[in-house]
Amino acid sequence: MNRNFIKNPDNKKILIDSYGRTINYLRVSVTDRCNYRCTYCMPEKMKFLPKKDLLTLDEMDYLCSLFISRGIKNIRLSGGEPLVRKGIIKFISNLSRFIKEGDLDEITITTNGSQLKSCSQDLYDSGVRRINVSLDSLDEEKFNEITRRDDLLNVLEGLEAAKKSGLKVKINTVVIKNKNLYEVNNIISWAHKNNFDISLIETMPMGLTDQDRIDQYISLFDVKEIISKKFTLANSPHKTSGPSRYEKVKETGGLIGFITPLSNNFCSNCNRIRLTSIGKLYMCLGQNDNIDFRNIMRNENIDSLNLAIDRAMHTKPKAHDFDISYKNQTPEIKRHMSVTGG
Ligand code: 5AD
Ligand code: SF4
Repeated sequence: MNRNFIKNPDNKKILIDSYGRTINYLRVSVTDRCNYRCTYCMPEKMKFLPKKDLLTLDEMDYLCSLFISRGIKNIRLSGGEPLVRKGIIKFISNLSRFIKEGDLDEITITTNGSQLKSCSQDLYDSGVRRINVSLDSLDEEKFNEITRRDDLLNVLEGLEAAKKSGLKVKINTVVIKNKNLYEVNNIISWAHKNNFDISLIETMPMGLTDQDRIDQYISLFDVKEIISKKFTLANSPHKTSGPSRYEKVKETGGLIGFITPLSNNFCSNCNRIRLTSIGKLYMCLGQNDNIDFRNIMRNENIDSLNLAIDRAMHTKPKAHDFDISYKNQTPEIKRHMSVTGG
């Protein structure tokens, strides 16, 4: 197979879905494996995708180049924990040729921060400028309870390393009603003191964990009320390519993003598609429909791949199907967040 950059046959470098949304953002879960076991994300005894099904990094690069040739401008690498995949830094360095050539705006990464002590400089040198680091607690004991790993100090040192390397950091915090709600204001103060932006996220019902989501879920609408007791919030026009709606905090000058898939659906502005580590393309995080790009790539030709992208644009759904209403509910979306990436 020709692994070079695919020139778009008709030069139409824009992807528009059937609801008129421009799709320019690709998220790639480079591995569904993770060294943590966050309680809202996966059970302790997680069953990962079979290793034999994984795309090679060469194949992933080929598919990324295909999507870039059709109009993708931003790529976010996620997981699982993307930095535990062997060869990932070389993969990123290689992919950043598209930034140099002007075909891609940026490559970003979502990480749990556990590898940043050793990886930050390499990430910067490979072309990454912005990273999202998931951190749900600054209390060692709570951090252990949430991630099931004793690793907070390592993550905090990793964040220092990231700052030193010149990476711009955004903290992602999933607000969990029965775990870290009480320290949300504290995490915001800490983040802004460190010059990090922060996004708060509602827990989404994806895959079975060994805990009930209804005990974990709280609407960010309610969280905002708690934040407003300590901080003065003002609507901010700030925009990134992600789904956060931002508020500026008067006291700190920093930004808080609110990612509210359940309480305030943001699907009408969706600009994203997601590729899994085994080559399935999901048009929506909260739907089960997917297209197997690995199969097409391995058995058919470039025309079939381009047709599959057209099909993806036609079938991308209007909105997700998330719902957390009942106790002991089995989630509609059976796969875990780590399969399609956050
Ligand atoms: N609901 C909400 N956020 C989740 N994440 C992982 N699983 C879930 C879930 N079920 C978050 C991680 C990380 C991002 C990639 O997604 O904490 O910040
Ligand atoms: Fe790993 Fe992120 Fe899932 Fe936590 S939320 S187990 S860090 S993939």
